[in-house]
Amino acid sequence: MSLKDAATAVRHNAYAPYSNFKVGAALRSKGGAIYTGVNVENVAYPEGTCAEAGAIAAMIADGETEIAEAFVIADSPFPVSPCGGCRQKLAEFSGPEAKVTLATTAGLEQTVTIADLLPGAFTAAYMEPTE
Ligand code: THU
Repeated sequence: MSLKDAATAVRHNAYAPYSNFKVGAALRSKGGAIYTGVNVENVAYPEGTCAEAGAIAAMIADGETEIAEAFVIADSPFPVSPCGGCRQKLAEFSGPEAKVTLATTAGLEQTVTIADLLPGAFTAAYMEPTE
């Protein structure tokens, strides 16, 4: 199955009664498996989680830690843009050149890299002591 088909299919299971904005995400790990996630909202709004976070959690639970490629889709006028927190979460498990395709259910797509989404990412390299 393609990442697009996986993200498109799983999006229908999103739990988004408050925003009515369903998001589907699919990741391919370096090992080749596909992991999917949806946004899961909560009546206590800040407790909701994004689709990307769900897909990452599924990948980590399966023992994989490297994202080769990602796909995110929503019913949006423009290809859906991962939020700031999800950019950081994706960067944790991706190289800067990993491709992320942003998509709409109407068929618009934009493919960017992790470095495009999160220039100047904070990485573990910043935590090297200098003294
Ligand atoms: N949302 C995602 O799942 N991923 C994103 O990258 C952007 C936003 C969700 C969170 C919330 O449930 C809804 O979209 C509206 O913000």
